[in-house]
Amino acid sequence: MVKTEVALKLNGKNIKLKAPVWKNLLDVLREDLGLVGTRGSQGAGNCGLCLVLKNGKTVDACSIPFFELMDTEIVTIEGINLIKEFPDRSLIISEVLKNTVSYRSNSIIMAVKGLFLEKTFPGDDDIKYALSGILSPVDDSNGIIQGVKKLVNMRSRRRR
Ligand code: FES
Repeated sequence: MVKTEVALKLNGKNIKLKAPVWKNLLDVLREDLGLVGTRGSQGAGNCGLCLVLKNGKTVDACSIPFFELMDTEIVTIEGINLIKEFPDRSLIISEVLKNTVSYRSNSIIMAVKGLFLEKTFPGDDDIKYALSGILSPVDDSNGIIQGVKKLVNMRSRRRR
């Protein structure tokens, strides 16, 4: 089996990894590194369960081939508190996920973090876009969106 080596920054640490070129980031995280907070599903590709931050932007880990990781910076749910920008993980949990017990919680946290990294004050369309494809019919979509809006207001008040 042909393996290749890549150097990247993962959750704040510079590391080198060896894996088969065909492997994707999701499998490397879960199988090779034991970072199982990034979830996936059978028939991967559009369930939104496997969100991570790649160079500060949310991406589906299952869509990133291993060989594309060279010189990238990846942050998973396990490392999200290393990013100091508002909002931190506990604030997202308390304001956005307060009424939700969801298998998708980690992905929702990553989506919200990525949204606030990209937009200082995300609008309604930004919020809906960031969560599109992640929320399932059993999630409290309205409550989650309202929670993100509350975070926008909190950030706005802090900046005054
Ligand atoms: S596992 Fe579903 S989008 Fe990646």
